Amino acid sequence: MVKTGQEALLKFDYNNCLAELVGPEHGLSQADLDEVAARTPEIAARLAAARAAGKLPYRDLPYQAAQLAAIQKSVRAKKGKYANVVVLGIGGSALGTIAVASACVHPFHNLVADKKRKGPRLFVMDNVDPDQFAALVDMIDVKKSLFVVISKSGETAETMSQFLICRARLMRVLGKKYAANVVAITDTAKGYLRPIAAQEGYETFPVPDGVGGRFSVLSPVGLFPLAMIGVKVDRLLAGAAAMDQACLGDNLRENPAFLGAAIQYLFYRKGKPMSVMMPYSQALRDVADWYRQLWAESLGKIRLSGGREEFVGPTPIKSLGVTDQHSQVQLYREGPNDKVFTLIAVEKFAKDLAIPRAFKGSPGTDYLGGHTMAELMDAERRATTFALTKSRRPNVTITVPAVNEFTVGQLLYLLEVQTSFAGELLGIDTYNQPGVEEGKKATFALMGRAGYEETQREIESLKGAADNIV
Ligand code: PA5
Repeated sequence: MVKTGQEALLKFDYNNCLAELVGPEHGLSQADLDEVAARTPEIAARLAAARAAGKLPYRDLPYQAAQLAAIQKSVRAKKGKYANVVVLGIGGSALGTIAVASACVHPFHNLVADKKRKGPRLFVMDNVDPDQFAALVDMIDVKKSLFVVISKSGETAETMSQFLICRARLMRVLGKKYAANVVAITDTAKGYLRPIAAQEGYETFPVPDGVGGRFSVLSPVGLFPLAMIGVKVDRLLAGAAAMDQACLGDNLRENPAFLGAAIQYLFYRKGKPMSVMMPYSQALRDVADWYRQLWAESLGKIRLSGGREEFVGPTPIKSLGVTDQHSQVQLYREGPNDKVFTLIAVEKFAKDLAIPRAFKGSPGTDYLGGHTMAELMDAERRATTFALTKSRRPNVTITVPAVNEFTVGQLLYLLEVQTSFAGELLGIDTYNQPGVEEGKKATFALMGRAGYEETQREIESLKGAADNIV
């Protein structure tokens, strides 16, 4: 699929979403694809112009050599000083780090012995559940912990409350020296976190201008904490750069990101508004979670059409192979045919286990002996693909040669560009999130922030009657 260099590159197989295999009612025809192909040069030119004008800065993150060097220098200076990296952030400030960490470090990173682990333990705190947060701050030695507070706006209630709690704990044990245990990643100029960081003397990194949270994993938002725990972030960017080269053309059938978006869009229009992502890899499980946010916040929008409001956006669903074969696949095959499936296959796992032969003649185990666990995983994925296709459920497969920084960089970038193209097809603003902002404002009002009294009154006016609560 990607034609640059000799390195391991992703493949995108869309055979099973075509009418030839799932029938004309549920599959796409070449004419469907031709329709989007005809629009592609114009959309590609629009995206290229926006990029050239600096309006799509996430597209250039793979090439930020100076920022990468600054991050690596900072990480080197911290080597051996911290036992824990604690990320304080939510949404786009957290999900990318979780996704890449799950994919690129040891599956039980935090349990690996100190001497063998490639960096400090990682805790990404993306909630304000007091039980969970109290458990963390009570458990870790805050003196040996680096708190990375990440907020583009510098005012998200969840992140700021976590930060205030951690700062107070740090000050209690370290006094004024505590600032060495905090790194702030925030907007270059806007928001309240940057002046606080300057006043307190924290090291800072920028969330680049115009890069929204859900497109920020390849900026310092993801790169700094990931580099701290030993992820090869230069390879992550190299993978993204390779995918960028593959996504520059304006021929729909040769541009994997545009093709992926076109398929999703055409199925959305064809009465399949549910989009399931199902990696057959535990390591890629959180990529599906990251993508769920990217897809939902970018594409779930109100669109004005002829003065009328239309509510658009496919619903992303995360799933996991093989685990969800025993939980969701019954619905996927026999429930409403309103879904398009993206399976993610891994060609070569880093490790494999031979399944021993035993209980000769016992039909429940005999056929397994002599195979490997990777073979079983692959057979299960192919079995699901077959079962979905047989019941006329359109599905595509992205094949990752092996899970590592280079391929994960490709995958993230592919899905980001796919989202940009899908937004163009849907005719919405891919990069704003007014629906999230309303909830943030309401939280400020309910927590008594000055300036939000009008929102407080609106909340009161929308309250139902007490006798409708049982
Ligand atoms: O993608 C987004 O823009 C959001 O999910 C934000 O990342 C999230 O709301 C957190 O915002 P902030 O980084 O401003 O604290």
